[in-house]
Amino acid sequence: MKRIGVLTSGGDAPGMNAAIRSIVRCALHEKLEVVGVLRGYDGLINEEIRTMDHASVSNIINRGGTILKTARSAEFMTREGRKRAMDVIRKNKIDGLVLIGGDGTYRGGIALTEEFEIPCIGVPCTIDNDLNGTEATIGSDTAVNTALEAIDKIRDTATSMERIFVVEVMGRESGFIAMQVAVGGGAEDVLIPERKFDVEEMCHDIVEGNIRGKISWIIIVAEGAAKGEAIARQITDFTSLETRVVVLGHVQRGGSPTAQDRILAARLGAEAVGLLLKGESGKAVGVVSDEINIVDFEFAVRKKILETDKIYNLMKILT
Ligand code: F6P
Repeated sequence: MKRIGVLTSGGDAPGMNAAIRSIVRCALHEKLEVVGVLRGYDGLINEEIRTMDHASVSNIINRGGTILKTARSAEFMTREGRKRAMDVIRKNKIDGLVLIGGDGTYRGGIALTEEFEIPCIGVPCTIDNDLNGTEATIGSDTAVNTALEAIDKIRDTATSMERIFVVEVMGRESGFIAMQVAVGGGAEDVLIPERKFDVEEMCHDIVEGNIRGKISWIIIVAEGAAKGEAIARQITDFTSLETRVVVLGHVQRGGSPTAQDRILAARLGAEAVGLLLKGESGKAVGVVSDEINIVDFEFAVRKKILETDKIYNLMKILT
C-alpha cells in the first residue's frame, strides 16, 4: 500500500473535516501518499482528485461541512458508473480508499469491494447515528446539541406565550436525534419512526394537563415519523389550543463539531488508516464502550435497533 484516497459522501455531518485531517495526517505519518477525492463517488467517476499534504488539512478541525465536498451519486449506483470510478482509481494508482459517510456510503463500499479488487474502509459519519457496530457516528453529538440549543430557545417563547410547540427534527428513518433531544430538552412527548404512537392519546394527555393548569408543551417529531405541520393541526383540532411548528432542518447538519465528535473523528480516522495498512477491506470502524470496534460493511448497514422503551418512559416520568 503506497497511495490511499479519501472521500466524503452522502449527507455532510459536523466532524467530517476532523476525520479527513486525521486520515491524511496519520497516512502521511505512515509514509503513505494521500489523495482527496472531491464530491464523493461523483468525484471518483469524474476524476476530481487532489494531492493532500500536511497543510491541506490545516485549520479544519473545528469547521463544519467537508472541505472535500459531498454528494449523493446517482451514477455510482449503476455498474457503468462504478466501472468508470474503478478506471480512475487504477489510473491514479490508488491502492486503498477510506470512505467517510453513512449507510449509502458504505453500500458504495460494498459494491466496490465486491466488484473490484480495491480495499475500502468505512468511517461512520452521519448525524442520524443509524449505523451498526458503533454507539456513535461522527456528527451525531453535534447535531443533537445544535437541536437542543434551538429547543431551549423555543422553550422560552413557548412558556411566555403559553403555547404548544411541535418541533420537527431530522431523521428520515431514525429517531435518534428526536429521542435524545426529547429527554435532554425536557419535552412532553416524542414521535419517532421506531415507536408506535397515538396522536389522539397524546391530545388527551394535553387536555388533561391543561385542566390541571399546564400552559405549554414541547412535542418533538422525527421527520421520518410524521410531518410537524400535520401533528400540530391534529393537536389544535382536538384540543382547541394554539400550536406553532418549528422545522429545524439542515441547521442540524452544520456548525463546529463538539469535542466528542472531534475526538471520535481523530480516533476512527487513525484506525481506518491502520486497517488499510494491515491489508483489511470491506470493514467499518466504530466505538463500543469507548473501545474501537470493527465490523463488516454488511453488518454496519443493517437496520439499527434503537432501544427506546426505558428512555421514553423516563422522559414521560420527568415531564
Ligand atoms: O444525512 C442524514 C440526513 O440529514 C437525514 O437526517 C435527512 O433525512 C437527510 O439527510 C436529508 O438529506 P438531504 O440533505 O439530501 O435533503
